[in-house]
Amino acid sequence: MKGIILAGGMGTRLYPMTKVVSKQLLPIYDKPMIYYPLSVLMMGGIKDILVISTPNDLPLYRSLLADGQAWGISISYAEQPRPEGLAQAFIIGRDFVGDDDVCLILGDNLFYGVSFPKYLQEAISDNKGGTVFVYPVKDPWRYGVITMDKDGRPVDIQEKPEAPKSNYAVTGLYIYKNEVLDIASRIKPSARGELEISDVNKAFLSSDRLSVIRLGRGIAWMDTGTPEALLEASSFIRTLENRQGLKIACIEEVGYRMGYIGAAQMRALIDSLGDGEYSQYLGKVLKEDIY
Ligand code: G1P
Repeated sequence: MKGIILAGGMGTRLYPMTKVVSKQLLPIYDKPMIYYPLSVLMMGGIKDILVISTPNDLPLYRSLLADGQAWGISISYAEQPRPEGLAQAFIIGRDFVGDDDVCLILGDNLFYGVSFPKYLQEAISDNKGGTVFVYPVKDPWRYGVITMDKDGRPVDIQEKPEAPKSNYAVTGLYIYKNEVLDIASRIKPSARGELEISDVNKAFLSSDRLSVIRLGRGIAWMDTGTPEALLEASSFIRTLENRQGLKIACIEEVGYRMGYIGAAQMRALIDSLGDGEYSQYLGKVLKEDIY
């Protein structure tokens, strides 16, 4: 299974914050936003990852993440010259995906929950066609919205409907069989000129091969689309991290605990991160003061 992080877009809703910095590089409390989706893929066991971003921003991602070896993974990069839709990730990433299945995550989506990595790992091994994760929200019209029958089977998906038929949003995490590459190459741009991920999901739905995983109580899915949402996400992470003394989406810790790197590599990471609170935390992880 390959992984793609889509970190494109202009971030205009966050201007002037994102005039010169890509949205997904903005901090969420103590680390760049992209660490959150990256840690999700890593916890799902995915080690071969493509980061897609704009030609302007890609050098910044390269400089932050390099080839991923430091965390025991492999990261490659590709350009999305214009924001022409999420499904374009499969056209841009076609060669990278090759004959594998693929998990796409949006670079601005934050997931948190103790049971979440288990859900993800199970979804990856059970995936029959496409799998989406859905989450109840108060403002479904801002998202892809899924309608389900009484047994929880998907019936319909609408992209940003004016009158949503349910309050279940489709989150920015998708698992697909390899045929998604062909499906994405066949879909046509929507009225807003984008290749919609909802149309990809509808294709799997119409052949009855779309699985839906409901993320409910105890799991947080957070949005970072407005200044308020950004601050709320930072506060949420700060509250949890400060209370427990455990970091969320700390990719160095994830790499170490998943066995992607050993103690010597962890020590090198600590040395490269200065003497701030973040590297002190990693020191404690290494000494097994934190488990
Ligand atoms: C995109 C998708 C939408 C999904 C959302 C999740 O919306 O088009 O279906 O619910 O991501 O974050 P966008 O963020 O591009 O408006």
